[in-house]
Amino acid sequence: MSVTVRVPAKVNVQLAVGAARPDGFHDLANVFLAVGLYDEVTATPSPDGLRITCDGPDAAQVPLDRTNLAARAAIALAERYGRTPDVHLHIAKDIPVAGGMAGGSADGAGALLACDTLWGTGASREELLDICAELGSDVPFSLVGGAALGTGRGEKLRPLDVGGTFHWVFAMATRGLSTPAVFREFDRLAEGTRVPEPIASEPLLAALAKGDPDALAAAVSNDLQPAALSLFPELADTLDAGRAAGALTALVSGSGPTTAFLVRDAAGAQKVAEALASAPACRTVRTAVGPVPGVTAL
Ligand code: C5P
Repeated sequence: MSVTVRVPAKVNVQLAVGAARPDGFHDLANVFLAVGLYDEVTATPSPDGLRITCDGPDAAQVPLDRTNLAARAAIALAERYGRTPDVHLHIAKDIPVAGGMAGGSADGAGALLACDTLWGTGASREELLDICAELGSDVPFSLVGGAALGTGRGEKLRPLDVGGTFHWVFAMATRGLSTPAVFREFDRLAEGTRVPEPIASEPLLAALAKGDPDALAAAVSNDLQPAALSLFPELADTLDAGRAAGALTALVSGSGPTTAFLVRDAAGAQKVAEALASAPACRTVRTAVGPVPGVTAL
């Protein structure tokens, strides 16, 4: 018997970042949108103990030891239910690694639900969300999907209404960026300034509720973008190339370095995707729509 689940990537349409907290994390107003690029996680009983395998274009960069969020999810669930994590988790990886699209978080949320089903644990939604929050700030959102406002370190979620489907193009970069490094660069750039409290943008929430791409384009923001550009300056050219090709807006996705381009429709996506294919720091271009549901059993 095996269980396979599918988990979407995310883009942050708003990422407001507050000052560093005493625990090193930052308070956020983080508006997540789940988009249709997916990892699949398959859980199969493994009498020899926990084993992780991975395939896909970025598979070589995925750790196969217990630092993998999928492994940590299986161990956390097993510990709660007093069992051993005797499971083989196979990750079919399509979300970019170290890309700012919650690829690792997706695998954590996927493994959690796959193991819960395989083991018949019957954990409640609240328990699963608790474990997700222990695993990482973005993991709860990977479980629920759709659109949500994340506060605290991003793990406290309020679901958001979305009145339509948004079309996106994503440019995967030629190298990754480490999330902690980008937050450190944010702190360095903010030195000596007063960082305002992170607050969700009302025009942005209204644009999502209306399903209006022009209003959303006017309202998106990412406070980590200057830090990501400081560490990876060539991304500015990728952003410019997408804007020149007609994107309604262009921004770094989360901590980057994936760049995200909002377009009006599938034809607009095609045009921007073609232009980005030859951008210097761009490895691959993908199109996707959002919102889409969170972890789903296949
Ligand atoms: O929660 P997660 O393990 O995914 O976070 C990875 C890193 O990103 C943290 O170690 C921290 O450096 C940074 N981070 C932060 N504030 C947040 C979320 C993440 O500083 N709200």
